[in-house]
Formats: sequence, C-alpha cells, structure tokens
Amino acid sequence: MKAVIVVHGGAWAIPDEISQASIDGVKAAACEGFSLLKRGGSALDAVESAVRAMEDNAVFNAGHGAVLNSDGEVELDAVIMDGRTLACGAVSSVKNIANPVSLARAVMEKTDHVMLTSKGANLFAEGIGVVTTPTETLVTEYERKEWEKHKKYHTGVIELFNTQWAHDTVGAVAVDHSGNVACATSTGGIRNKMVGRVGDSPIIGCGGYADNLSGAVSCTGHGESILKVTLARLILSHIEQGKEVVDAVELSLRYMGDRVHGAGGAIAVSPSGEWAAKFTTERMAWASVECDILWYGLNPNEKFKQQLS
Ligand code: GLY
Repeated sequence: MKAVIVVHGGAWAIPDEISQASIDGVKAAACEGFSLLKRGGSALDAVESAVRAMEDNAVFNAGHGAVLNSDGEVELDAVIMDGRTLACGAVSSVKNIANPVSLARAVMEKTDHVMLTSKGANLFAEGIGVVTTPTETLVTEYERKEWEKHKKYHTGVIELFNTQWAHDTVGAVAVDHSGNVACATSTGGIRNKMVGRVGDSPIIGCGGYADNLSGAVSCTGHGESILKVTLARLILSHIEQGKEVVDAVELSLRYMGDRVHGAGGAIAVSPSGEWAAKFTTERMAWASVECDILWYGLNPNEKFKQQLS
C-alpha cells in the first residue's frame, strides 16, 4: 500500500519575514515523518516524529516558539490518535514540556485515560521521567515582543484571526504501508488566551481524529470555531458519506465559515492515500510526501513539487 504523510505549520496570515522558514520547517518535518514510513514504520510513529520536529522549531506555535497566555505563561495542548484501534491520548494546559505530542502519546499508552490536563498532566510527566524545560527556553524573543504589544485578549478574535495577530498550531496525518492512519496536533493556542483556556487541538474529533475506516485529519485555526463544528469529525463524516477527501475538507471549512464565521485549515489523508491540505485563512504552510515526491505550499491554490532522491 502507498504510504503518505501530510503536515501543516498552522493556518494564519504568516508574515513574509517568516514564510520561508515556515516552508522549510514543514518540508523538513514531512521528510522526517516520511523517512520512517519508507523504512516500514507506523503512521503513528511518523506523525509523532513530524510534530516533534515542528515543536522543536521555534518558527511554529508549538513547543519551542509557543505563544504566551494572559499571565505571560506557556500552556500547551496536544493530541495523538491511532486509526487502527481508535486509541488516543491528549494533554491540555501543560507547562514546561518541550514535546507535548510525546506526552500525549504516553497518556495513550501508559494510562487508562484519554486526556490529562494542567497540573495532572505535569505530575504524570514527572512520574514517567519526562525532563521539564524552563518557560524562558520555550519562549522566543519575537513572541515576548508580540505579547507585550497585545497584552489584552481581544474578544473580536475571529476577525483578527486572519491578521498577523494570530499564530497557530502544527499537525500531521499519515497512512503507512499497512493502510493504518494516524493524526497528531500540537499548539500553544491563542496569544493572550485566558489562563486555563483549552482550544480545539487536544479535543478528540475537533483538533484531530483518525479512523482506519475513513481517514485521518489534523486541524488548525480559530479553536473556539473548530470546537463548535467538531471540524475533524465533520470532515471524516463527509468522507464516510462518499465525498472525495479534498471536497470533504473544503465543504467542512466552508461550513465553519458560514455557520460560526470561523477561519482555519485542515490536512487529511484516507487509508488509500488520497490526501488534501486546504485553508480559509490567508496562508497555511503545509507539505506532503508520497512516492518520494515532496509537495508543499503556503498561499491558496499553490502547490509546488520537488523530487526526493
Ligand atoms: N487552533 C488552536 C487553538 O485555537 O488553540
């Protein structure tokens, strides 16, 4: 079976000064995940490694580079899901963790639960020996300056989402050579969010979902809007009803725009390797690898091709 990985580095109006770094970051993450798939690795391992690569890259709002909440703290959310068994794990409002996606995977594999939040998630991390990272290490100078500029959370966030004010999320979906699908999503959320605010990313069926019977999805965009329409499950329900992957993603994003005025993006892959990367914001950095061909883009209707060795 054909193995495919698709990754995104967040849907928002990525400013020109970080557009190249965003493209380079998603390309590197997609190649990293694909190299695992090529060696016979699982979709689950591929999405975790791709998301870890973006959490480690300070250009993205996840892990290193995450945005700050209203207290000037970093609170991180992440989810991972295995489409073979529907096993899933998530963490929300976790602090001082460089790779929340791997902590989410540990919740999935080492506990009887699906989600741990805040102090409980941190206690669990400590209990299994995850090394903590000081907040200063996770925060970039760029983010500290942006936070100082916009210290107050704006209630008109949907209108502002498509401006440089927002800064959103990373994610990956994959199908491996056995036809198993998986998804992972990780984020710092929205700058100046209230302490304890949880967005769509760690919520199963909203920021991501994976099921071998339909496909895998990872979402990005205005979290409160994605939560209201359960975007990842909405996309998969269209696929279950016979829609092509690209149409399912487009229809669902349009529905979110019409119904709750929310902007965002999503990547999706089916068990047969059909895939899509679509968004209703100004830009979304994305990349995909299938059959040693790397596809990538940033602006609407843009798709570049690069042959890998
Ligand atoms: N989409 C990420 C968030 O709103 O938290």
